[in-house]
Amino acid sequence: MFYFFLSLILLLLLVLAYNIGVYYFTRVPHVRSKNSRLEKIFANLDIKKTDNVYELGCGTAEFLFLAEKYQAAKLYGYELSPLICWYGQIKASLRKSRVKIKCQDFFKVDLKDADIVYLFLVNNVVQKAWQKIKKEVKPGTLVIVLNDEIEGLEAEKVLKFPQTEAKVSFYRV
Ligand SMILES: C[S@@+](CC[C@H](N)C(=O)[O-])C[C@H]1O[C@@H](n2cnc3c(N)ncnc32)[C@H](O)[C@@H]1O
Repeated sequence: MFYFFLSLILLLLLVLAYNIGVYYFTRVPHVRSKNSRLEKIFANLDIKKTDNVYELGCGTAEFLFLAEKYQAAKLYGYELSPLICWYGQIKASLRKSRVKIKCQDFFKVDLKDADIVYLFLVNNVVQKAWQKIKKEVKPGTLVIVLNDEIEGLEAEKVLKFPQTEAKVSFYRV
């Protein structure tokens, strides 16, 4: 019994150290987009079969797996936490999905063919990502941001969630 609890505590400490380590690099905690948020986003989103969809800081890429149901053309996710990235990749492979998850810093990725970009990050990283996005993507690209706002840019559409502070903003480049 003693060794069981000792192993459990060691495991928890390892997980904690791992998460702190990843946070040190990304400055963004891993929090998954809630299904209720994603459902409302997709109810308000018109995805075409020619659209290339990017999820920057994709975690387990739930946004992309949903976009795949709408037969989007390319589905790319980038995630810096190796364990979360591998989990997403295994999930994609088990589902025989077209979603491509890369264990890579999205700030080092070329976004020029993106039609839709999804962001759920933290405010300062959203602003930094926007500086990159606006330089690289073509006019007309849709940028969807969960909870944060892009400073100085008017949203085309904002979805609210009753009894919460959550919101989703749709921006057109
Ligand atoms: C709040 S989570 C959102 C996960 C997923 N997009 C979702 O909505 O369920 C943000 C994720 O972005 C990742 N991340 C932060 N900065 C990154 C970067 N520069 N490149 C790749 N991934 C990054 C973090 O590791 C974290 O898992």
